[in-house]
Amino acid sequence: MVDSILQLEQVTKQFAGSIVPAVKEITFSLAQGDILGLLGASGCGKTTLLRLIAGFEALQGGSILLHQREIARPGYSLPPEQRNLGMVFQDYALFPHLTVAKNISFGLGKLAARELQLRVGESIELVGLTGLEHRYPHELSGGQQQRVALARALAPRPELILLDEPLSNLDVQVRLRLRQEIRSILKETGIAAVFVTHDQEEALSLCDRIVVMQAGRLEQIGTPQEVYNYPNSRFVADFVTQGNFLPAQIVGNIVQTEIGDFEIPAEILDHSSDRRASNLAINSDHPANSTINLKNPLALR
Ligand SMILES: Nc1ncnc2c1ncn2[C@@H]1O[C@H](COP(=O)(O)OP(=O)(O)OP(=O)(O)O)[C@@H](O)[C@H]1O
Ligand SMILES: [Mg+2]
Repeated sequence: MVDSILQLEQVTKQFAGSIVPAVKEITFSLAQGDILGLLGASGCGKTTLLRLIAGFEALQGGSILLHQREIARPGYSLPPEQRNLGMVFQDYALFPHLTVAKNISFGLGKLAARELQLRVGESIELVGLTGLEHRYPHELSGGQQQRVALARALAPRPELILLDEPLSNLDVQVRLRLRQEIRSILKETGIAAVFVTHDQEEALSLCDRIVVMQAGRLEQIGTPQEVYNYPNSRFVADFVTQGNFLPAQIVGNIVQTEIGDFEIPAEILDHSSDRRASNLAINSDHPANSTINLKNPLALR
């Protein structure tokens, strides 16, 4: 893909002493300016994959390309500081003894004073922290601290930013607001992002594409609509949509269940790889109206 900023080819990582790989044969590419979600349960390898992209871990199999340039393969890893990536962590990781402005300018050491001031000002404005430049982290709320971390990652104007569950320590209201703000900031600046989350709703509402992971493997990749409406496995249907399942038999374009027979919509058949499917996943968006549910089967499996 010509305009892809990041490409992973069969990336595999196994930690010393563990019997199964933490990340196994993961392949995907990320287009410039796109937001890609890594979604999966705790321990499925999301952070490990992000650390491989950042260069904090070495891989044992496959390769990683940034702008078509190989930055990691077995036995070789471009150092993190040469990858020009921004990073935002769950726990903000701010320097407690530095002000907001100093925290943001920390990674901009080589810039001339005027340019540095400009960049810090620009980033502070972007994340809506104008007026708080001289505060210290302990004088800020959790949401404000995460904005500082975001501004710090944005200030060097990276082309790609990696975010590891940046919103999970925040209360629900702040989380919902920041979710939309992060998306609009990324879109405004054209910065591509890999956004790790275990929250389905967050991935569906914030990302352009989602990689669903399970036990180190890529289960499905697609737009939020594709993953939500056409999960390609029972695991994805269960994890992403919390769908309900009924044993079913497929006869032609009819699916027979113990509660009745239903016609299978053409688009579902198109997306269904396994015609011998034995389960009907039911959209649980409208639990109060089972008729609606049954007219919107999500997947056949
Ligand atoms: N440095 C390490 N040494 C050995 N095993 C590790 C190391 N880091 C992670 N692992 C293991 O690799 C697997 C994936 O961990 P990882 O942190 O990538 O999961 P995660 O999807 O980010 O989980 P969470 O949602 O809880 O943050 C886990 O089984 C974990 O115990
Ligand atoms: Mg993690």
